[in-house]
Amino acid sequence: MRVQVAIVGGGPAGHLLGQLLHRAGIDAIVIEQRSQDYVLGRIRAGVLEQGTTELLDELGVGARMHREGLVHGGFSLDFDGAHHRIDLQQLTGGKQVMVYGQTELTHDLMDARAAAGLKTVYEAEQVSLHDFDGEHPKVRYTNGGVSYEVECDFIAGCDGYHGVSRASVPANSLQTYERVYPFGWLGILADTPPVSHELVYTNHARGFALCSMRSPRRSRYYLQCSLDDKVEHWSDAAFWDELRRRLAPDLAERLVTGPSIEKSIAPLRSFVAEPMRFGRLFLAGDAAHIVPPTGAKGLNLAASDVRYLARALAEFYAGSRTGLDHYSDTCLRRVWKAVRFSWWFTSLMHKFPDTGGFGQKVQHAELDYLIHSPAAGAALAENYVGLPLETW
Ligand code: FAD
Ligand code: DHB
Repeated sequence: MRVQVAIVGGGPAGHLLGQLLHRAGIDAIVIEQRSQDYVLGRIRAGVLEQGTTELLDELGVGARMHREGLVHGGFSLDFDGAHHRIDLQQLTGGKQVMVYGQTELTHDLMDARAAAGLKTVYEAEQVSLHDFDGEHPKVRYTNGGVSYEVECDFIAGCDGYHGVSRASVPANSLQTYERVYPFGWLGILADTPPVSHELVYTNHARGFALCSMRSPRRSRYYLQCSLDDKVEHWSDAAFWDELRRRLAPDLAERLVTGPSIEKSIAPLRSFVAEPMRFGRLFLAGDAAHIVPPTGAKGLNLAASDVRYLARALAEFYAGSRTGLDHYSDTCLRRVWKAVRFSWWFTSLMHKFPDTGGFGQKVQHAELDYLIHSPAAGAALAENYVGLPLETW
């Protein structure tokens, strides 16, 4: 089989790129190693930047998001048992974010892909990338015991942090930067009304807590936990008790608990691999970079990467290589700003082994500064709603 672009990985990056290329008249295949149900079963991101929602609209896949998603013009920054609203709209000249699950977004993209009759291979095994340092790259995989080879002009590595794409690049051609945080996030999903109508980020001496949601009837909560914690050791009751301890008293009293429908632990990491291009292989999304989830940036970065990539590929087929040559540098400028923001917000909100009394005082001074200085508040807000796309 021959296509113009072989997309490895059918998560948000791969599916968004698939739609963007389809719209540009570029034919592509999506090769995903898991089943469709498995991909849709992963509960991850919840907050979309305005630029990401605009992209979904441009692609004609935003209708359900506008019906079911929740538009948020602010969030609460809680510490010392009190709430402080960060008014995103006021601080950014009217920008907002959309609370809409990654699962739902991926579902909408999969439906659009199927409706357009575009090819996706699920449960592809032994996926391997070949000859991307030359003019004729190939992707090989097996499916149902049969071997396949896809010849293409370009490979888009959209297969996440653990994927095969970045691992296929000779190690001495990539420079990596990494920070591993000494804690994780324990997340719970429950069919209970959210404790607050907006998200609540809480700095507490026992550790960070986040109150989020998926709908007016479905809550998503996170607790900073130890890296040694095992999800099986956290009963629902233990989770709700610990969450109550970390929330401001009025929220703790209002919290409605119920059985969890999902519970998982995610480690926190900042990671960037440079450059994001090797020959005719282009990395996008978590395959190239990871941020800790505190600033809700990962999925949004995947969306901006593939936006650049689709534009660069369209320019290539129109006769110009400029976009492809600038792809990595252009992406990385925005990526590093999000890496910085996510690291900073994580450092501000979590308890580290060496935080101690001094660290807590400094965190509180910064939080106090953020809620009282319009300049500091605006810097937080403009990063949270999403920085503009860079130009090349
Ligand atoms: P992935 O979602 O990892 O998709 C990669 C796909 O490639 C997967 O389907 C995988 O099965 C497939 N694959 C892997 N290896 C292969 C292979 N060898 N061959 C073929 N396919 C392969 N981001 C936000 O923007 N906002 C948030 O609020 C937010 N909250 C988060 C909360 C948590 C708890 C976590 C863990 C993450 C959160 N994120 C958030 C980050 C976000 O989920 C990721 O950044 C996003 O999923 C990246 O999309 P992706 O398509 O690049 O990678
Ligand atoms: C969610 C995740 C985040 O990392 C975040 O900052 C906000 C919300 C969520 O899953 O709802």
